[in-house]
Amino acid sequence: MFDTYTSLDDSNHSQPRVTALLACHNNLMPVSWHMPISKSPFRYAVAVREENYTHKLLQKHRSFTLNFLPFEHYETVNLLGKIHGDSEDKLTRSGLQVEGWDNHQNLLLGASDFIYECEVCDTYENGDHTVFVVDVTKIHVNKKQSKKPMLFSGCGRYATLGQETIAEQSL
Ligand SMILES: Cc1cc2nc3c(=O)[nH]c(=O)nc-3n(C[C@H](O)[C@H](O)[C@H](O)COP(=O)(O)O)c2cc1C
Repeated sequence: MFDTYTSLDDSNHSQPRVTALLACHNNLMPVSWHMPISKSPFRYAVAVREENYTHKLLQKHRSFTLNFLPFEHYETVNLLGKIHGDSEDKLTRSGLQVEGWDNHQNLLLGASDFIYECEVCDTYENGDHTVFVVDVTKIHVNKKQSKKPMLFSGCGRYATLGQETIAEQSL
């Protein structure tokens, strides 16, 4: 038995997605509309709404980092999703610790479970978002990776994994 809708807003259904903080220079923006699209070379795609300040920054700088924070930071991420970098210093508001910067002056956040350094290689204008296709040039994995990824289901709903199982590997 299903209820059927024709728009995402109307359906309001829970669709858990891994969430990251996209850092372009010192500006932090939560993103959950992103996915891997090629293994070798490792390429990734992120959808950014045109009205966001980050969209302007990405067009100018053509690079960013994706900082995958553990679940415990969901309140900070939620706050950063409500404010805009052209009117607020979001790094200061976040209180997050800076581990350093990549070669393009994009932030690396120490609390991340892992971080992707990304360089834009293509863009695709699509509906109300632009898809930024990137080469992932470096992957930083925290030695203390939490195994509690932050999942975002829309409308302020956050969750994490309850149980992780390793299935038998194919030969
Ligand atoms: C958990 C979460 C995930 C989000 N995912 C995206 C996303 O994938 N793409 C997008 O354009 N906006 C997304 N947003 C909205 C932006 O983060 C929000 O508009 C932000 O304030 C933009 O900041 P900026 O203007 O400094 O770029 C998300 C917000 C939250 C809270």
